[in-house]
Amino acid sequence: MSKRFYIKDAAEFDGQTVTVKGWVYNLRSSGKIKFLVMRDGSGLMQGILFKGECSEEAFAEFGKLTQESSVEVTGVLRKEPRSPGGFEMGVRALKVVNVAEAYPISPKDHGVEFLMENRHLWLRSQRQWAAIRVRSEIIRAVEEFFYKNDFIRFDAPILTPSACEGTSTLFGTEYFDEKAFLSQSGQLYGEAGAMAFGKIFVFGPTFRAEKSKTRKHLTEFWMVEPEVAFADLNDNMDLGEKFIEHIIQTVLANRAPELKILERNLAELEAIKGPFPRISYDEAVKILERRGVAIPWGEDFGAPHETALGDEFGKPVWVHHMPSQIKAFYFKQSDTVGGPGVEGTGKYALGCDLIAPFGYGEIIGGGQREEQTSVLQRRIAEHALTEDDYKWYLDLRRFGSVPHSGFGLGIERTVAWITGVEHVRETIPFPRMLNTLRP
Ligand code: 4AD
Ligand code: MG
Repeated sequence: MSKRFYIKDAAEFDGQTVTVKGWVYNLRSSGKIKFLVMRDGSGLMQGILFKGECSEEAFAEFGKLTQESSVEVTGVLRKEPRSPGGFEMGVRALKVVNVAEAYPISPKDHGVEFLMENRHLWLRSQRQWAAIRVRSEIIRAVEEFFYKNDFIRFDAPILTPSACEGTSTLFGTEYFDEKAFLSQSGQLYGEAGAMAFGKIFVFGPTFRAEKSKTRKHLTEFWMVEPEVAFADLNDNMDLGEKFIEHIIQTVLANRAPELKILERNLAELEAIKGPFPRISYDEAVKILERRGVAIPWGEDFGAPHETALGDEFGKPVWVHHMPSQIKAFYFKQSDTVGGPGVEGTGKYALGCDLIAPFGYGEIIGGGQREEQTSVLQRRIAEHALTEDDYKWYLDLRRFGSVPHSGFGLGIERTVAWITGVEHVRETIPFPRMLNTLRP
């Protein structure tokens, strides 16, 4: 049996007779010539049917075809620079597998609501196809980076008994006779992993009952979370920088055609190289004031502030030493920017967020963790959390505590930024958002 042919491999089969198994992307007919743009999941290719060159049956079968009908098309490949992918097929035979009913998505413009309702079909469109292929490559690059750097993959549970990132965005569920929550972050478990393996990464879906309807928020998103023992805040930012560089270089190397379909400015991506600027929250507040989007000290940045910081630097920028009052209980604290933490009075949290340029917002959030049992107990109480729920987590401090740091990178925001897609809903096959649970 001959090798199964995929459109992406057309160059290897120049001049040969092959069979494309796929779907009808587009149809056109002008007298004795018929055009058939086929997609097979790996790419697009134009087939041409000349009366006399292809079989009588094939010519007749063509008449049955509709958009998205499934077909097996056999013919001779030849170079054609104007065809998508650089090759076209002189069709000899055509087998119809299934005649598609009237397809709801036509090349004309549709509203986003309609497209979202038809997400299961919308995925076949060129831009969606390209974005999801870039997503797949980003995930591959993420894993490659950590494996190359001797991290162990460490899977955290999704059903959890307690909060990681505050109780206001928890999705609750029943767990037999108990109440459980869908994980907001695998971090706390990742810290246990770092103490066992030195460096680990948690990777999986995370859930937040976010009521915000923005272009950056999903209720279910994928997060990758490295955690490293004996690492401080600066080590954490160094790691994040190398990580982002690796992801971007890998996507540029392997997914340039997809980025072209998405009309992404490649020069802009190529220019993204570390080191990235590192500014404290206090410095950011000053910049924001100067740029006309002032924020009172102690408040969390919103979209206009993140956009302004992106505009200021034109590349990703780290913001560190945030006000403790807006950060989760587990952050190590400090009284001064750059100074060591003193128990009881930490004004700053040793956090580091990476803000992407062009309004894509915070793509990394992380920091150095509190390693002292007593401080952590006080923080748990201050956050009105139940110490009993965190008993195992406190054990990590009781038994060989060390300075350690980590971060979480949101996959969808990273895909949005790298592809230039406006909204995170187009960066995951089936987005979950406020008011979106179907399909
Ligand atoms: O800043 P966050 O909340 O950090 C944590 O969850 C830490 N526990 C991570 C850690 O240190 N291990 O979230 C991390 C990242 C954000 O920077 C953002 O990219 C993404 O997760 N993210 C979201 N992405 C899409 N929709 C949402 N609702 C998101 N919330 C956070
Ligand atoms: Mg954050």
